[in-house]
Amino acid sequence: MTWAEMEETAQALVAEGRGILAADESTGTIAKRLASIGVESTFDTRRAYRELLFAAPGLGRYVSGVILYDETIRQHAADGAPLTEILRRQHIVPGIKVDTGAKPLAFCPDETVTEGLDGLRERLVDYRALGARFAKWRAVIRIGAEMPTTTCIAANAHALARYAALCQEGGIVPIVEPEVLMDGSHDIDTCETVTTEVLQRVFDQLHAHRVVLEAMLLKPNMVVAGRDCDYQADVNEVAERTLHCLRRTVPSAVPGIVFLSGGQTSEQATAHLNAMNAGFGPHPWTLSFSYGRALQDQALKAWRGSSDNAEAAQQILVRRSMLNSAACRGAYTGEAA
Ligand code: 13P
Repeated sequence: MTWAEMEETAQALVAEGRGILAADESTGTIAKRLASIGVESTFDTRRAYRELLFAAPGLGRYVSGVILYDETIRQHAADGAPLTEILRRQHIVPGIKVDTGAKPLAFCPDETVTEGLDGLRERLVDYRALGARFAKWRAVIRIGAEMPTTTCIAANAHALARYAALCQEGGIVPIVEPEVLMDGSHDIDTCETVTTEVLQRVFDQLHAHRVVLEAMLLKPNMVVAGRDCDYQADVNEVAERTLHCLRRTVPSAVPGIVFLSGGQTSEQATAHLNAMNAGFGPHPWTLSFSYGRALQDQALKAWRGSSDNAEAAQQILVRRSMLNSAACRGAYTGEAA
């Protein structure tokens, strides 16, 4: 892909009120999700579930791209077509998770560094041949006593920048995802301070590694209080704090910011995105979604592993995507709409 094509792909992923479905759960994580509805995780149940999601009629109106896991990008639908072909029929761009997970960081208890740089150049060639046009790498930053350390932030920012540079060299648009976790009892001020620091370090490193900002997307957390904090901010405060942080850290050359949901409920994730787009503007970047749980949870519960429920589950996924698409335009008016 040329630079122009990468820039077009990055813009297309956030155009026309569309956003991204993150369906790149690792084998361990998808097993937990399937266990929550009493379904055993096998090659076939994972395929059936993902095919159901990707083939949902009308999904492409609201979803521009889907992030796949290594197993999924190689899987085929019941009719024999590759799952990537099912996506393309809906005008959805296939993407791929390329990190190999967050691993314990030496000398930094309870902190992790995301791995996966070894052999990444070659794996990107392979993924591109399989149809991927964008990629994702997730760094994890935990807030706690003495955390995050500058060591953890620096190691993760460096890895994100090396990943992003390799992607662009190989003609793949990188989604740069530094996630400050919601776990803990910290307040919203702490989340804002940490998220600001993390994003500053990430953009320092992207610059140092010559990453072209026009040909990438940022996938950050929103600024929220820790899950166990007594004071939880309302929707407008989350929107205002998140934008305050992003304006200070994210250059306007970045075409789009696609939030992760990170453990927010489906309703919260939609309401927060909507508030940011309904007020507080104009923004230099497009604000959209790249949700995993917030898009899938309700559909997963409706499916319960039975083909009898497949159609209902698909309708729920498309409706959730429609509500988030409305939130991209600041036009979400609540769940009843
Ligand atoms: P959640 O929206 O469930 O946080 O997942 C998004 C994602 O891709 C995390 O890497």
